[in-house]
Amino acid sequence: MNAFPQHGLSKDSILSGLADARSRDLTADGRAFAFIYDAGQETRELAREAFASCMSINGLDPTAYPSARAIERGLVKACLALMNAPEGALGTCTSGGTESVMLAVKAARDFARKTRPEVTAPKMLLPVTAHACFHKAAHYLGVEVVSVEVGDDFRASVADARGKMSRDVILVVGSAPSYAHGVVDPIPELAALAAEHGTLMHVDACVGGLVLPFLREAGVEVPPFDFQVPGVTSVSMDLHKYGFAPKGSSMLLVKSRALRDAHYFACATWTGYTVVNSTTLGSKSLAAAGAALAVVQHLGREGYVTLARAMWSATQHLVGVVEARPELRLLAKPHMNLFAFTTTEGDVFELADRLTARGWHVQPTYGFGNSPAHIHLTLDPSNAPSAARFGADLEASLADLPNRMELPPEALGMLAALEGDQDGDGDGDGAGLDPAMLMGALGVTDGMLPNQSAHIHRILNAASPALREKLVVLFVGELFA
Ligand SMILES: Cc1ncc(COP(=O)(O)O)c(C=O)c1O
Repeated sequence: MNAFPQHGLSKDSILSGLADARSRDLTADGRAFAFIYDAGQETRELAREAFASCMSINGLDPTAYPSARAIERGLVKACLALMNAPEGALGTCTSGGTESVMLAVKAARDFARKTRPEVTAPKMLLPVTAHACFHKAAHYLGVEVVSVEVGDDFRASVADARGKMSRDVILVVGSAPSYAHGVVDPIPELAALAAEHGTLMHVDACVGGLVLPFLREAGVEVPPFDFQVPGVTSVSMDLHKYGFAPKGSSMLLVKSRALRDAHYFACATWTGYTVVNSTTLGSKSLAAAGAALAVVQHLGREGYVTLARAMWSATQHLVGVVEARPELRLLAKPHMNLFAFTTTEGDVFELADRLTARGWHVQPTYGFGNSPAHIHLTLDPSNAPSAARFGADLEASLADLPNRMELPPEALGMLAALEGDQDGDGDGDGAGLDPAMLMGALGVTDGMLPNQSAHIHRILNAASPALREKLVVLFVGELFA
């Protein structure tokens, strides 16, 4: 694509340039067990049309764009009903799970500033299985994370949370479910603990909010997690995941107006128009929210139940395959259609490479805490028809799988040197590291990981979390250099 053409290009050449750029992207062909949330062509087409028709709506000022208010209120109402919210509960459309979570943390922090001025160093009790975006929120908002351990079932330990509760805790968090293992935390117990200490409880249902209620409707046993649980004060849920809407659409629901007002931001101390923003963005398109509302209305409860059933039966099939093979170990029984498994002796990253070679996209994940290196699968409706084929390929890929591989001495030496470079500049106290050379050594070309990437995953898995963070910043930074 031209950087900045002197003369405008034709529509055809522009669109074919974009199509070309997209040609290597993941698609909803049933082979991707991550990233894709697709309810089929009809829904996709409707979403595309609704997205385009709402593209120019600016949510910056809902008085100038009454449609922004109508769309947001419609979507909020649907989500409040799904989460069994009480009278007086409210919601805000956001651009994604990360933003919903950041606003939930901001609401808790600013609510505490107002109602509990004695709290000077706000903390949040966060299970180690909670999504990384809570750490991001903590980092941006000056809230300290107090990590809560999880048991062998990867559900938050209520005893550990209780032991770590203090007067400075402004928020307790639970997932419904956690991304990595697909298990729902003990929300009633965590919420009761929060209420007992006069603090707030956020349930992160970003990935489960539009599946768990429908699985329950389909007769699957689902642990309690929504506003019906006493003590739950806010819930996040993503329309752009299992709502099957385009990216850019999530929801934060809060139990009271006081909490909602606490995540708003207003500013009159400048020379321009007085600002009031409900979210982190200023000017914002309602395209994704409009498309989300369209999809919700199109599928209806019945449509979501049908899709949830299909995803659940594919999940049960694959969980069965994993459980039947002594070479594999399911890390936890999932409550919905995403889960994690590892190998008992074989190299899990080698297994991931073999699945890639057979045309599947899975998510190799590194060890942290009591969660070992594993393969994560997120199933969407597009995976349902190919689950049997994937299961067969998974079994076939186990043949002669080499044992867990150690890092070669050079790689261990490089890691040891880098672990010493804790100031993160990579240039003196450890080994200096040239990002371009690193990419070359790892076989990354044109921004794509090589098909054989087990060696890269082994290195990252062996690195400490702090070094892993540095290396991925370097890696992604190089993609955009
Ligand atoms: C449980 C959970 N919370 C939050 C998020 C963050 O969502 P997003 O990527 O839309 O910002 C995710 C994303 O996978 C998630 O699974």
